[in-house]
Parts: sequence; C-alpha cells; structure tokens
Amino acid sequence: MLFPTNPITTARLTLRPVNEHDAPALFPLYADAEAMRFWSRPPFTALSEAEQLVQRGVEGWEQQQSMMWVVEAEGVVAGTISLFSLSEQNRRAEIGYMLARPFWQQGIMSEALTAIIALAFGPMDLNRLEADIDPDNVASARLLQRLGFAHEGHLPQRWIVDGRVTDSDLYGLLKAHWCSEQAARSGCRQQ
Ligand SMILES: CC(C)(COP(=O)(O)OP(=O)(O)OC[C@H]1O[C@@H](n2cnc3c(N)ncnc32)[C@H](O)[C@@H]1OP(=O)(O)O)[C@@H](O)C(=O)NCCC(=O)NCCS
Repeated sequence: MLFPTNPITTARLTLRPVNEHDAPALFPLYADAEAMRFWSRPPFTALSEAEQLVQRGVEGWEQQQSMMWVVEAEGVVAGTISLFSLSEQNRRAEIGYMLARPFWQQGIMSEALTAIIALAFGPMDLNRLEADIDPDNVASARLLQRLGFAHEGHLPQRWIVDGRVTDSDLYGLLKAHWCSEQAARSGCRQQ
C-alpha cells in the first residue's frame, strides 16, 4: 500500500505527517474536555500522553501501519486526521479526526477530509473508508453525511470511557459512491 508522506495543501490548510515535535501543540486539543466528549478515551491530563500519541503516530508512518496528519491552518496546529486499521487485502481503512474548538464550524474538517478521501481513493487506491462515532456526536455525524458516508450500523454499548457506556454508529464510504458523487475530481478513477 502506498504511504504518501508529502504534505497536502488545500485552499486554507496544510496536512502533514505528525512529527516528534508536535506533542506540545497537540496536548491542548486532547486535553479539552469538550472536544474529547465523544472520544474513545478520557481527556489528556499530562503532556506525556500527547508525547505517546505522537510517538505512536510517528511509528505508524515508519512501520506503514497507520497515517496521522497534523492539520495546520495559517501555520497553526488546528487538528489531526488519522487513517488506521488499514487492510491492504481489503483496501480499507478507518478514519478519525480531531479539531481544536476555535476552528469548529468553519468547514475546516470538511475541507481537510475531502483531501484525505481523495488521497485514499486516488493514489492509495483504497476501496472503503469507515468511521465509528458516538451517536450523540451530531457534528461528526453531520460531517460524515456531508462527505457522503452512509450510516451502516449501530453497535450498542461498544465503548466504556471513564465508566460511561456508549454506543457506536458505524459509517462507511465506498470509492464507487465517492467517485460517482465527485465525477470531476482528479485522481478518482473507477477500477
Ligand atoms: C466533528 C468535528 C471534526 C467537525 O469539524 P468542523 O470543521 O467543525 O466541521 P465542518 O465545519 O466541516 O462542518 C461539517 C458539517 O457539520 C456541521 N456541524 C459542525 N459542527 C456542528 C455542531 N456542533 N452541531 C451541528 N452541526 C455541526 C456543519 O454545519 C456542516 O454541516 P453542513 O454541511 O450541513 O453545513 C469537530 O467538531 C471536532 O473535532 N469535534 C471534536 C472531536 C470529535 O468529536 N471528533 C470525531 C470523533 S468520531
């Protein structure tokens, strides 16, 4: 599977692979209880947790197991996007994303994910992307729907975070669907 490490630029953003210097800038994002409300683990309380996150991200690139990009807006670290649970045989991956609160509701994650999806279905030639979200995460559900993801299932009591039991809504996006919706998009060729 292709692991393209070149930075990706969009109209307003730069997406680049995470590096070992990113922990201090990423810590406040993952320490924000509001942003972490629907995450699969509690908010960070120590910088070391951000250092571990970054280390796993760097190792993911090195070992070609996962891909974690830092989203920069006007040179400021605004968020992250990850592709993980990559399956080369099945040409699929799971997607995760986090945006700092000051950047919410400006179309930034839509713009960033559009670029990552184009990469995934274009040069990486994946066939399917998946997302697992908390059914109460209205922003995340709306974002996925806007991008063309379909609601494919509901798994009760899938997560227990700080003693709180939550369900999962599973979303999926097929390359064929993305391409039919985005026929003019470069790099989106049917196999
Ligand atoms: C989910 C998240 C990434 C959305 O990013 P964003 O840049 O604000 O999203 P966008 O501005 O691109 O908006 C995408 C769509 O979601 C809608 N939306 C965004 N935030 C919303 C909110 N709080 N309530 C309702 N709708 C919302 C937008 O209106 C837009 O819909 P539209 O196309 O119909 O207008 C951001 O809220 C976030 O990082 N949250 C915390 C982390 C998180 O929950 N990650 C997902 C875990 S699965």
